[in-house]
Amino acid sequence: MRVTVLNGPNLNLLGAREPEVYGRATLAEVESLVRTEAAHLGVELTWLQSNHEGVLIDALQALPGKADGLVLNAGAFTHTSLAIRDALQAVRIPFVEVHLSNVFAREEARRHSWTADLALGVIAGFGPQSYLLGLRALHARLADG
Ligand code: DQA
Repeated sequence: MRVTVLNGPNLNLLGAREPEVYGRATLAEVESLVRTEAAHLGVELTWLQSNHEGVLIDALQALPGKADGLVLNAGAFTHTSLAIRDALQAVRIPFVEVHLSNVFAREEARRHSWTADLALGVIAGFGPQSYLLGLRALHARLADG
């Protein structure tokens, strides 16, 4: 089973960026946790981060044939990007939306997601654990067929 984890803008700053909201783990540390879990599950993992909407869209368009599922933290593009929604609808890859913070307990603008209704499910508010829970849920769903 091949899973891509796609991270959007500013997530490269994890650890230093608003630690009271996003925690102290760096993106490299989150990646390492997720890679360990992927190895346990027998999942082949690809990990990407970009600050650029077009790069994320190119990455989504490249998924068919390369990945069976996606864990997506689109960062602020979650709340703004109709283009990322269009790409997800075009490629029709099963995905879980994850957020470190509980976006529903934050500013009004973060309560809307352009991608959540296309997702198998959404996990928000558990810090790096959101990624692990997302990967486990995706793995279980894909394994079910
Ligand atoms: C985030 C939540 C978004 O609202 C924010 O713009 C991010 C990170 C999260 O993981 O909590 O960049 O996706």
